[in-house]
Amino acid sequence: MNTSQAISTFIEFFRDRGHRLITGASLIPAPGDPVLFTTSGMHPLTPFLEGRPHPLGNRLTGVQRCLRTTDLDEVGDYSHLTLFEMLGSWSLGDYSGPQSLRFGYELVRDGFGIPPGLLHATVFGGDEQTGPDLQSQQVWTELGVPVELTAGENWWSGPTGLCGTDSELFVWTGEPPPRGTPGSDPRWVELWNHVSLRYQQLPDGTRRPLRQRSVDTGMGLERLLMVLQQQSSVFDTDLFRPWVSATAELWPAGERESRVIVDHLRSGVVITGDGVRPANTGRGYVLRRLLRRALTTLWRDDPGRSLADLPDPLVGGTLTHFQQSPGSSEVRGVLLAEEQKFRDLLTRGRRVLSRVRLSTPVTEQELRDLHQTHGLPPELVSELLAEQG
Ligand code: SER
Repeated sequence: MNTSQAISTFIEFFRDRGHRLITGASLIPAPGDPVLFTTSGMHPLTPFLEGRPHPLGNRLTGVQRCLRTTDLDEVGDYSHLTLFEMLGSWSLGDYSGPQSLRFGYELVRDGFGIPPGLLHATVFGGDEQTGPDLQSQQVWTELGVPVELTAGENWWSGPTGLCGTDSELFVWTGEPPPRGTPGSDPRWVELWNHVSLRYQQLPDGTRRPLRQRSVDTGMGLERLLMVLQQQSSVFDTDLFRPWVSATAELWPAGERESRVIVDHLRSGVVITGDGVRPANTGRGYVLRRLLRRALTTLWRDDPGRSLADLPDPLVGGTLTHFQQSPGSSEVRGVLLAEEQKFRDLLTRGRRVLSRVRLSTPVTEQELRDLHQTHGLPPELVSELLAEQG
């Protein structure tokens, strides 16, 4: 099943069960939202999950692009991405958690054809404020899916305080038959989170029950594709194939480096497509950091490499996939201007470092001085010093 078939299987399943399709939002949250980027499918729906009526009703489904930079150093392994897409379903005060789990099981087994014997679930085991999620445990048991009770991983809390118990569905990716549990064997890959949003977390850590109880589910599209296409990494799926093959041809590198280049440049294109421009603060800084990390990785092998070589259809195809309006030449222009800025900064940095005398290892004070006097960011100085040996 390729990307578009997987997306339509998901959406059609929920449409057939009374859910209306919502259009995915931009990576830039609504004004007043304290978070820099949209981090999950439910994020743009926050006001509706808090009780405001949604114009399309109380059963929704959709695909949402999300950006998370909390695991930046993990990018390069088989599954971590900064930009990813979440397939989601929502019940805004309509059906409750158990119904959502039953829908989930049916879709995974019948729609996606994943053998039920490869599934495992986890449910919330309880903490000092909220009891164990016995209802979800019972549903999974009735469905014949083995279930494990955990604490921390099965409490979901979002950036704006909405929270609740989370039941996660895992799929076995090792050689069958499955062994152990999600908590004890990493070959169980987390596929789909079903969150019963029942509380608002208050600043003092206590939980206030919500008047409207909702369900929010989110399934990472890339991981789903990895499982359905029986690949060992998200980068080996059809979704990433154009990026992986084009960059491998242009800029051969080790597996980890290639994945970092693909992930960061693809994210850079999409963030730019949503209207962000490189800057030293906020969203622009995240974009700058991703592009510079990609360029640093590219230039480690050959400083002559340039984003000017990124094929136009690759950038254009990505913007089309995410239904973004800027043309590829506008986005490529932003990337190239940032590349030039970074090249100039590196040249200046090397010149400054060849003239100043620094301690070994360099001190915090020296790094501060270099930043203030010469505008050289500490991480750049560290890179350049490492380069000098
Ligand atoms: N909010 C949950 C998540 O982020 C499910 O959508 O995983």
